[in-house]
Amino acid sequence: MKIPFNKPYLTTKAEHYLLDAYRSYQHCGNHKWNLRCIDYLKKRFHFREVFLVPSGTAALEMGVFLCGLKPGDEVILPSYTFSSTATAVLLAGANPIFCEVEPNTMNIDTNCIPKLITKNTKLILPIDYAGIPCDINRIEKIAADHNLSVFVDSAQSLSSRTSTGDYVGTSSDLAAFSFHETKNFTCGEGGALVVNKEEWIDRAFILQEKGTDRKQVLDGLKSKYGWVDIGSSYLLSDILASALYSQLESIDFITNARRKITDSYLTSLKPFEDAGFIKLPRPPKECSLNHHAFFVIFDSKENKSQFLKTLKTEFNVSAYIGYQPLHSSAKGLSLGYKPDDLPITQDLASRIVRLPFYTELGLNRDHLNYTVFSIISVLNSIYQ
Ligand SMILES: Cc1ncc(COP(=O)(O)O)c(C=O)c1O
Repeated sequence: MKIPFNKPYLTTKAEHYLLDAYRSYQHCGNHKWNLRCIDYLKKRFHFREVFLVPSGTAALEMGVFLCGLKPGDEVILPSYTFSSTATAVLLAGANPIFCEVEPNTMNIDTNCIPKLITKNTKLILPIDYAGIPCDINRIEKIAADHNLSVFVDSAQSLSSRTSTGDYVGTSSDLAAFSFHETKNFTCGEGGALVVNKEEWIDRAFILQEKGTDRKQVLDGLKSKYGWVDIGSSYLLSDILASALYSQLESIDFITNARRKITDSYLTSLKPFEDAGFIKLPRPPKECSLNHHAFFVIFDSKENKSQFLKTLKTEFNVSAYIGYQPLHSSAKGLSLGYKPDDLPITQDLASRIVRLPFYTELGLNRDHLNYTVFSIISVLNSIYQ
């Protein structure tokens, strides 16, 4: 048996919707399937305004431009994230200020944020790692005390709920989501920028449309549109939006399937955690998760490497290392960071593993049992 690390889930309705979109002769953004997805996302998750964009990366870029960052401005973000989070900051001309993460969630350590705030700080940009919501209430309190904006990179966490019971992306000024094929709900490549800050919505329509006021023409307010601001082509093709809609309709089904994987991993790995060999994720109790991913932090990087290698070679099961911390990556070093600047992140990143996680795995009991059996066998061989 071969167990991949990730596999996109195919919905049955997608083919029908894709054909409809294709035959409509309306393939660019702002058409039927885009509008359906936007309406669905707004109604289900209570987002103020939603912009469907070509990727989570594009959502991050559009969002930082919307924040109006200037050269010299500083943005606080975790070092433990995907490159896109920091690249967006650099594209806006601002400086990324990397913060430590904490091991229960691998999200930004909110205790470290206040020490990083200077007169140049404009934005806090946390992420929701593995679909676990960051401590948004604490972050928003810090931001309010220092008059900062909050933009959450929620690429992995659509439909998770924070400790107050709110869906992620509803309370911050901005939130970015990804519909990349590695995410729970996917159209191959795609994303969404949620804008909750009322004053930024009109400009967001302009940034999305290559810096033009085309929205006013679409709304029948003008007969011609013109160039009024910066922007880019931040629109999702209606063909992809049709596939995305079939996934959004299946959110509950997909989430229930994925919950089974979390439950199996938690139950079977607990004895190894109790024995002190590994550490499992510990999301705040009040949160509810979208079951995006599952990570294990090993007691040493040697045992982590041994685990990955044996799982692959002896059982044909693919697990994955986590992110390389950005502060100690080639680009981070060129910005002046040293690996020891964030020792906690550096250490955790060297010991973390992400286990196989995809919807079909939760739907196939044999495959899930084999995966768990393989993982346990390798752990037993390491810690016998
Ligand atoms: C935290 C985070 N931010 C941003 C992205 C980028 O999303 P996309 O691949 O849709 O551009 C990802 C994708 O893996 C991510 O995990």
